[in-house]
Amino acid sequence: MSPPDPGPAVAGPALLDPDAVAAEVAAAVGLAEGPSGVRAVLREIARGAGSTRAVGRAAGLPLPVVAAVQGELRTRGVLTAERPSKLTAAGRAAFDPGVTLSGRCPACAGLGVLDTAAADLTAALAGPAADVPPVRVELDQTHCTPATKTRRVLAMHDAGALAGRHVLVLGDDDLVSLALVHFARLHGTGPASLTVVELDPALVGFLRDRLADAPFPVEVVEHDLADPLPARLLGTADTVQTDPPYTVAGAQLFLTRAASALRAGAGGEVFLSLGVRRPAETVALQQVLTRLGLAVRSMLPGFNDYVGAGVLGGTSALWHLVAAGAAPAAEPDGDDALYSGEGRNRRRYVCAHCGTAQTVGVGRRWRTVGELKEAGCPRCGGRTFRPRTTTRTPRAD
Ligand SMILES: C[S@@+](CC[C@H](N)C(=O)[O-])C[C@H]1O[C@@H](n2cnc3c(N)ncnc32)[C@H](O)[C@@H]1O
Repeated sequence: MSPPDPGPAVAGPALLDPDAVAAEVAAAVGLAEGPSGVRAVLREIARGAGSTRAVGRAAGLPLPVVAAVQGELRTRGVLTAERPSKLTAAGRAAFDPGVTLSGRCPACAGLGVLDTAAADLTAALAGPAADVPPVRVELDQTHCTPATKTRRVLAMHDAGALAGRHVLVLGDDDLVSLALVHFARLHGTGPASLTVVELDPALVGFLRDRLADAPFPVEVVEHDLADPLPARLLGTADTVQTDPPYTVAGAQLFLTRAASALRAGAGGEVFLSLGVRRPAETVALQQVLTRLGLAVRSMLPGFNDYVGAGVLGGTSALWHLVAAGAAPAAEPDGDDALYSGEGRNRRRYVCAHCGTAQTVGVGRRWRTVGELKEAGCPRCGGRTFRPRTTTRTPRAD
């Protein structure tokens, strides 16, 4: 007897070689994290991360990089064309582990802080956040969201680094100082004193005005952190909060000032907000921390969200650092560009329509990709741009 006819063959998804795809995409995008960065993007999409922002936050990658990786994955049939993209059948076969079990906390999504914990504070900060002086991109100003301001205050509070402590904020376009005042009013606990050091005179005036009736002593000092702190601020702080410029040199400068401000001996605390860095830059940052005698107590990726960030701005991590009581550090040499728009930190963007590349940054026709998008591509008028990542593109976090 002849075997039963199996019927017409049903076509399954074309088979993809996951190792080859991850390696090709990493090379095409110039991904510093290599193929494992591509796999991280796919893992988060498979877990249902959704938007590019959510994928970037969960994968620990900057949004332009995630967007570029997703574009390459679409052209290879791994992701669907719609937005937000999902895995195609072939993509699922190659990259979805098919396991839904996860140990992540669904309530805080790994941030260590519940956004509902002080919703009253977040609501109170919406007004001041809307009134803040305009962003000065040349100083790397990008305002964080009201919820982020609240998270920062709660992180300090939970660590015991707030109540009754002498707190110093280095650079405050994020209005953490105002958040501390509102927190004290709403929840009856605040610092022993608060000092803000800020370069931007408009911001200094705004903060002095808004902090005038704080329920604890406040001083706003107009000062360029390129210079050492005024002598009267040295060795006086218990806690420092800072969101420095996006370069390693910028972080080094602000952290050197933070370390000099902490009381002598061990135990001073620093809350550092810093965007996603390439692995090699993270190592450089760790070397800076080591030289300054700052130990990492925790690092929460995706902790900070920035307003109006669109595809470019994204998120940054919160590093909780603790002083080990090391000897004062030497002055940074100041050779490298401080701000992400300076010199070698200019960025190249490619028009998604005609492929023409443009340079964006300080001293160029467009200082930000937002300005470039608004003006449109000079060749075809297109308004969608991708970072050119095959050459060395600095990370905008
Ligand atoms: C460097 S910006 C970056 C923070 C931004 N929120 C972000 O998204 O990362 C933080 C603050 O530092 C201030 N700042 C920048 N350069 C400074 C300097 N040399 N001395 C003092 N403050 C400075 C800015 O005006 C701003 O208020």
